[in-house]
Order: sequence, then C-alpha cells, then structure tokens
Amino acid sequence: MKKLFALILAVMMVLSMLAGCAPSASTSGLKTVEAGKLIMATNAEFPPYEFVEGGKITGIDVEIADAIAKKLGLELKIENMEFDSIISSVKGGKADIGVAGMTVTPERLEEVSFTTSYATGVQVVIVTENSTITAVDDLFAEGANHTIGVQLATTGDLYSTWDIEDEGLGTVDRYNKGADAVMALKTGKVDCVIIDNEPAKAFVAENEGLKILDTEYAVEDYAIAISKNNSELLTAVDNALKELIKDGTVASIVGKYIGK
Ligand code: ARG
Repeated sequence: MKKLFALILAVMMVLSMLAGCAPSASTSGLKTVEAGKLIMATNAEFPPYEFVEGGKITGIDVEIADAIAKKLGLELKIENMEFDSIISSVKGGKADIGVAGMTVTPERLEEVSFTTSYATGVQVVIVTENSTITAVDDLFAEGANHTIGVQLATTGDLYSTWDIEDEGLGTVDRYNKGADAVMALKTGKVDCVIIDNEPAKAFVAENEGLKILDTEYAVEDYAIAISKNNSELLTAVDNALKELIKDGTVASIVGKYIGK
C-alpha cells in the first residue's frame, strides 16, 4: 500500500513538472510580451502584404511572421492597428514585432531596431488615366501645385511632405487607409496618390480609370521592427528570417501573392 502511494506521488510529481513546462511553448526561452506568443503589430490595409479576407488577416507578412513564430516555438498573435501606432506599440512593449511592409528609415531606426530586409518596396504615383501628371518629376516642377493623397505616417507621406509640401509645391492629404486615398483620387479630391507599388497594383486593379506612372519615386527596404530593449528577440527573429530567406520559404510565400 505504501509503495503504491509512493508511486502515485511520483507520477503526480512528474505530471506537475510537465504541466509546469507547458505554458511557455517557446523552446527558445525568449522573452516576449505574452509567454509563448509572438505578438505582431500590423495594419491590414496593405495588400498583398497584409489585408483582410473573409474576416481573416492574411498576406505575405502574416505568413512570414507565422513561419518565424513556428521556428521559435511561439504562437503568432496579430494585433491590427493604425499604421501610425505600430512603432509606438513595439517600442512601448505592447507588441513583439512590427510587420507591415515597413520601410527601414533613419528616423525609425532611432525608435526601434530592424531585422534583415525581406523585400523591396517602391514608392509609385497613382493617377487617373487622363491625368496631366505624366511623370514623377511633374510633382516637383517649378510652379507645381498638386494635392497628393497618402496613407498617414507612411514613407509616401514623409517624402511628399518634405519634397512637395515643405517646398511650397502642393498639399499633402493624409488618410488612415491607402484605399481611402485612392477613393479620394477617384472622386477628384486629390490629384494623385503616392504609395508602395504592390498595394498600388492591387488598388488600381480594383478601381477602373486609374494607372501607375512608369517612373519610380523611391526604392526602399522592408524589414521587421523590434524593440531596442529586446536584443535576444531581435537576434532570434533575425536568424529565423535569414534561414527562411535562405531555404526559399520567403520567396515561395511572396510567389503565392505576387507576380502571377
Ligand atoms: N512602406 C511604407 C512605410 O513603411 C508603407 C507601409 C504601409 N504598411 C501598411 N501595412 N499599411 O511607411
């Protein structure tokens, strides 16, 4: 009887030890906002990188982040927010990673760290088919006075503010969503929209009477933003991303959404 009791006790101890390990699914012992989870801050208004389809957030960034989380033994959790809030939520310890087709800029590097780049973005100009704007340079021409639509706090906003508004060559109208800026173009409230090339293609495909100018405004690198206070996480996510680039996973994810 005593022996049986000891055996039951031993089994119970092993079980409780196992249970104790269970909550932190992470095999890597990484510190994250929520144990066992990798919280991704994004703005799902940016097809094909992140967008809502059938009530679900999906896209290139979501799939890449999910693959990274799996490699790290973490569960991906997505927080959808205004683009403008992503950096502060990463910086303020509310999200682990900012993945949003986010361009690495010197200003942002002062706030957060970035991983290796996983994609190239190009700022392009969308106009109506009969627009008098025929090249990017028209926006900077002497005496130019256009109204430019952008998504608030994106690089399209920053560059056109510096190059056009601050130079007295026009006005920048800032919208919470890129799609709203495109709507403003359709209804004649703005003369053009400056936005990243892939969402630009998606928006032009969805809306008749619009086109993308051939000339590029700016070429930039997309990367994942991580708090400057969590260098272990930065290294782990960066290494996972590098592996996923090397083994072709990133290319195959991108291929599912782009270039077909
Ligand atoms: N690449 C641009 C930037 O970093 C736009 C990104 C917008 N992303 C989004 N998910 N809305 O500023």
